[in-house]
Parts: sequence; C-alpha cells; structure tokens
Amino acid sequence: MPPETTAASPYTRTNPFPAKLVVNRSLCSEDSGKDTRHFEIDLTGWGLNYEVGDSMTVWPTNDPALVDEIIKTLGAKGDEAVKSPNRETTLREALLRDCRITQTTPKFLKAVAERATAAPLLNDLLKPERKQDLDAYLWGMEVIDFLIEHPSIKWTPQEFIDVLAKLQPRLYSISSSLKARPNQVHFTIDVVHYESRGRQRKGVCSTFLAERAENVPVSVFPNTSKFRLPEDGNTPIIMVGPGTGIAPFRAFLQERKAVGAKGKNWLFFGSQHEHCNYFYREELEEYQRDGFLTRCDCAWSRDQAGKSYVQHKMLENAAEIWKWMDSEGAHFCVCGDARRMAKDVDAALRKIIQEHGGKSDEQTNVYVEKLKSDKRYKRDVY
Ligand SMILES: Cc1cc2nc3c(=O)[nH]c(=O)nc-3n(C[C@H](O)[C@H](O)[C@H](O)COP(=O)(O)OP(=O)(O)OC[C@H]3O[C@@H](n4cnc5c(N)ncnc54)[C@H](O)[C@@H]3O)c2cc1C
Ligand SMILES: NC(=O)c1ccc[n+]([C@@H]2O[C@H](COP(=O)([O-])OP(=O)(O)OC[C@H]3O[C@@H](n4cnc5c(N)ncnc54)[C@H](OP(=O)(O)O)[C@@H]3O)[C@@H](O)[C@H]2O)c1
Repeated sequence: MPPETTAASPYTRTNPFPAKLVVNRSLCSEDSGKDTRHFEIDLTGWGLNYEVGDSMTVWPTNDPALVDEIIKTLGAKGDEAVKSPNRETTLREALLRDCRITQTTPKFLKAVAERATAAPLLNDLLKPERKQDLDAYLWGMEVIDFLIEHPSIKWTPQEFIDVLAKLQPRLYSISSSLKARPNQVHFTIDVVHYESRGRQRKGVCSTFLAERAENVPVSVFPNTSKFRLPEDGNTPIIMVGPGTGIAPFRAFLQERKAVGAKGKNWLFFGSQHEHCNYFYREELEEYQRDGFLTRCDCAWSRDQAGKSYVQHKMLENAAEIWKWMDSEGAHFCVCGDARRMAKDVDAALRKIIQEHGGKSDEQTNVYVEKLKSDKRYKRDVY
C-alpha cells in the first residue's frame, strides 16, 4: 500500500501523533558493554509522509521511579495542584510530563544557592568566571542530588516546578523507508545508562523507549541540510556511519532496494566488537550476498590491541574510494558523532583526495568545496 500524504495531517510538533511502539529489540548480545536497540513504531492512522534522511521528534515522559523519589524528598504527596509550564495539573503529572527533572538549569542552581544554609562551593561556582569549573562539577549531577544534599531547603510544590526547565523532546534519525515499511518508522538508539556519584542514571528518552513506552508521541523533523539520497538511482553512494550513525543508511538502503535503484552502495560501519555489536548483521550480509550492497567494510574498535575506526578502513581502501568519487561521481555521506568521528573522517577523505588525486592542500580544499556545493558530500552529524 503506498504511503498516504501529509497534506491534511493534523499531526505536528505541537500536536504529535500518538504512535504505538511495536518492536523493541536489542542489537547487541548480552556481553556487550553497549545497549543499542532497534525500535519500530506503528503510525497507522497518521497519513505520514517523510523522506529517508529525515529524523523524528519523540516526546518522552520521565522515569516514574525518579518522580516518586523527588516527591518524597520534597516531603510532598504528589497530588498538590501546580501550574506547570504547559497547564494546571498535579505535582506528579508536572514532574512526569512537563518538566526537565534530570539535568539542572542555572535558575535551579541559583535557587538552591540562595536558599541553602551552606552552599559556599556552589555560590562560588556560579560566578561567571567559573563557568568551566561549574560545568565540570555538574557533569553527572542531577536535580535529585541537590535535593538530597540540601534537605534544609523547603520548597513548595509550585516553587520547585517554577525553577525547572521544560522537558524537551529528542530527535532520532529514521532508520527505515516508507517504501519498504509503510506506516512504520524504525529507530536505532543507543540507550543512555551511566553511573555517577554512586547512582545509576538513565537518559530520559532512550530509557523511556527501552523500558516503558507503549504509546510514543512523535512528529517528523525534516532534514533541512539536504541529507538525502542522490536523485539519480544510478549514482554510487559511499556511506560512513559508525555506531547509531548507521540509522539513516539502513533507511537509504531500504529505499534504494525498494525502488530498484541500480547505483552501487558502499557502507563503512564501525562499532566496538564484531561478535556483539554488529548491528543489522543479517540484513547487511543478505544485501551483500545478493550483490545489492556492493561493499561493507567494518571497523571493530576493541577487537585488537590498537583502535580500528571507519577512517582507517577508508584509508585502507583509498584507491577504490578515489575511483568511486572521481571517476564514477559517487556521493559521500557521513552520519554520527560530530565531535571526533566526523572530523577524522573528513581528514581521511581529504588525504585520499590529496594523495590519489595528486592535489595540493589548496586544490584539495577546492575539490571538497565543490563536492559540498554539488551536494555530493553530505553530513548529518552533531
Ligand atoms: C538530528 C539528530 C538525530 C539523532 N539521531 C539519533 C539516533 O538515530 N540514535 C541515537 O541513539 N541518538 C540519536 N540522537 C541523539 C538523541 O537525540 C538523544 O540526544 C540521545 O538519545 C540521548 O537522549 P536521552 O534523553 O536518552 O538522554 P538525556 O536524558 O538527554 O541524557 C544525556 C545526557 O546525560 C549526560 N551523560 C551521558 N553520559 C554520561 C556520563 N557517562 N557521565 C555523566 N553524564 C553523562 C550528558 O549530560 C548527556 O547530555 C540524535 C540527535 C540529533 C540532534
Ligand atoms: N544522526 C546522527 O547524526 C547521530 C545518530 C546517533 C548518534 N549520534 C551521536 O554519535 C555519537 C556516538 O554514538 P554511538 O553510541 O552510536 O557510537 P559509539 O558506539 O560510541 O561509537 C561507534 C564506534 O565509533 C568508534 N569511534 C570512537 N571515536 C571515533 C573516531 N574519532 N572516529 C571514528 N570512530 C570512532 C567507537 O570506538 P571506541 O568507543 O572503541 O573508541 C565505536 O567503535 C553520540 O555523540 C551521538 O549523539 C549521532
């Protein structure tokens, strides 16, 4: 069945669609240090339309156990009436759905510093010149830590709600194509768990999806940076997506397969260990067997003494990449971590252009800028 169109869709960022979570399965085996999951949500009844490369906005609710702990620590009951950022409701509902109750805000920290009988360190760290020290101090600290640390502070439920920020939705790259999976959206999500100050912490939205979501409010977040498949299905593509950066490329591959695009496809994937972190291994191997996925090069970063990353795999295949890019007009797409990976992959691409194209630094820059302006070098990184 072809996807319905969005023309009359009433579902937007301010009125998200109440989708159903129908699949929640691990992409890692038990001995993995990571918890990366595959989710499928059912959008029947929406009339959804999106393009591969788009993301979705997901509205989580907070962890009820943390909400209960906050209510108890405040000495409240939870049924107190409050005016939250969005509506008049109870303290419990506001903490569950409306407020950011994990990471602190400057407003919250100032309120703590003003009310605490003794908070010399916090007062000092709140000085503008100590911003970096404050950030370091706050790393891994949440609202509940301050409530426990300063039991002398008495908050009315309304005062407490007033110093919290609004709970924000999270974005996730769509990892499926409507042409292959009508009325569905798939996600590939790393579930955030970590320990700090002796407590187990949970990422709000990734654990909402992993541990308790049944209904998931969503809307489409179109990709405005033109992170798209080439218009011509005959154009080869090189996709570099380590970790959950693989998400949009799974969608690209599904879409190209569904429309019978003949262009060659080359995926560079990277993760920690081959035996437990090879996401979508069966699908990718099947694509390779039938010749649809022309090449799949994987970098297992923790399977040997030194690190092996996607950019190392690129450099091992430099001559072939140069041939695809320069002679065959391939598009080069990168998704994932902006802080380190995307910069290193960019440097590897420049090295390949320089060495195999026989170009100077200046000529390499010109070549890369042309790739970008021709929309042949596309990145979805942050
Ligand atoms: C366009 C776009 C697409 C995205 N696509 C995907 C995707 O496909 N898959 C995916 O998994 N993510 C994706 N993300 C990231 C996603 O939006 C969320 O940021 C991520 O899931 C974490 O959200 P959360 O609510 O679970 O965690 P949060 O509650 O937001 O917690 C994360 C925060 O916890 C803190 N923290 C985390 N680890 C530690 C630690 N070890 N020590 C101390 N503090 C720590 C940090 O402050 C961090 O910012 C995308 C983001 C964007 C902008
Ligand atoms: N759509 C998107 O753009 C998107 C989607 C999802 C996530 N993200 C972002 O990507 C980041 C990582 O997410 P993740 O948990 O999926 O990945 P991850 O598992 O942390 O990393 C995936 C692989 O990349 C390796 N790696 C580390 N540093 C690298 C580098 N400089 N160059 C190349 N590879 C490197 C890791 O190796 P080691 O750990 O062994 O060093 C690991 O093998 C997060 O910051 C997240 O916000 C972006």
